[in-house]
Amino acid sequence: MGSSGQAPGLTCWKVLTFLILQLSFSAIFFAYVRIHGKANQEVPEFDMVSQTRCPPVSQTPCPPAGQPQRSTVGERSSNLITILLWTWPFGRPFLIQKCSQLLGLPDCDFTTNRSRYQEADAVIVHHRDVCWSAGKLPQLPRPPSQLWIWFNLESPSASPNLHFMDHHFNLTMSYRRDSDIFTPYGWMEVLPRPGNVTVPPKSKLVAWVLSNWKPGSRRVQYYNELKKHLQVDVYGRGHLPLRREDHLSTLSQYKFYLAFENTVHEDYITEKVWRNSFVTWAVPVVLGPPRKSYERHMPPESFIHVDDFPSAQDLATFLQELDRNATRYQSYFRWRERLKPVGETCWAMHFCKACWALQKKPVQYQTIPELSKWFK
Ligand SMILES: *[C@@H]1O[C@H](CO)[C@@H](O)[C@H](O)[C@H]1NC(C)=O
Ligand SMILES: *[C@@H]1O[C@H](CO)[C@@H](O)[C@H](O)[C@H]1NC(C)=O
Ligand SMILES: *[C@@H]1O[C@H](CO)[C@@H](O)[C@H](O)[C@H]1NC(C)=O
Ligand SMILES: *[C@@H]1O[C@H](CO)[C@@H](O)[C@H](O)[C@H]1NC(C)=O
Repeated sequence: MGSSGQAPGLTCWKVLTFLILQLSFSAIFFAYVRIHGKANQEVPEFDMVSQTRCPPVSQTPCPPAGQPQRSTVGERSSNLITILLWTWPFGRPFLIQKCSQLLGLPDCDFTTNRSRYQEADAVIVHHRDVCWSAGKLPQLPRPPSQLWIWFNLESPSASPNLHFMDHHFNLTMSYRRDSDIFTPYGWMEVLPRPGNVTVPPKSKLVAWVLSNWKPGSRRVQYYNELKKHLQVDVYGRGHLPLRREDHLSTLSQYKFYLAFENTVHEDYITEKVWRNSFVTWAVPVVLGPPRKSYERHMPPESFIHVDDFPSAQDLATFLQELDRNATRYQSYFRWRERLKPVGETCWAMHFCKACWALQKKPVQYQTIPELSKWFK
């Protein structure tokens, strides 16, 4: 979740008002799209909206974070892998559906009952809920075969105190492609058969939703240049109002969406791309890691990268050209003939992904010495 942007020392203390879920589950690794020979997918972040639905792979929508208190968590079952969620992510309980219902995968016994620590096969620790004190990690001796999983969807800039985690964890779980358990904000699925693509009608040009306006940030500076040459409709605190329930329908009116990440890190591609753009059929104009990084997750012709242009003015000119030429604009959708983006994910899907990874044999684990050397 790209809630980032807060000063690292403060982030853990803040209540997040917008959770973003993301995620994704690669229903099955072999369903991953391969582009340039790599499994790819990635995840997007929404500035203002909590994710409320699971990807279409599931018929059952995920409940909004923080609402439902009823949970299958805690139901005991014998021979299932037991996974202890050390905290609810950001302290907000939700329904963890059975992975068999959510994704058609074998189930795990998820629990948040810390009294079951000794019997847990794995413990998932959500970074942002423990990062302000090393004492927030489990303190009891670890059963010999128990695996600790470090879970984080925030960017390194929003993940303080990584050094507290050194030498404790056996598996990583994050949006980074090289995580042991890869939990991106979204991904591409290959369609069973290629289909024709009809781009929905668009009445507006460029939208941007921003809740965390930092004048010195690269994205705001870039926008300040861009707006001199192009009309950009900005939504969010201090700008045009946008109700959560209107989010997707509003953005769907636009030809382009400014998917500007709040901080730039490898693989940190959030719901700004996956949900705000791909779900709404707005072409993402991305600012984030280099184009090559995006291309590991999505087709090269599915997005426009600010780095493709020498200046914001050149980008503005290019967008105006696409606006005038329907054929050219539609070429940014051709990939949809063979791929379907999954841009709406939820916590439960991430946990099911961990469940699935733990059932695969053999699980590769290790002790991760210094997280901060890798997660940056
Ligand atoms: C937590 O687990 C312990 C040990 O299995 C059990 O005795 C207790 O009833 C559980 N608590 C809840 C609230 O389920
Ligand atoms: C997991 O990491 C811990 C902490 O370094 C280590 O003691 C343990 O042996 C590791 N477990 C496995 C199964 O590798
Ligand atoms: C796609 O469109 C082409 C050209 O209009 C048509 O020939 C073809 O049958 C269509 N394919 C599908 C799967 O609808
Ligand atoms: C629109 O773009 C297409 C493809 O780039 C090009 O062949 C065509 O000439 C353009 N049309 C106009 C009117 O500029």
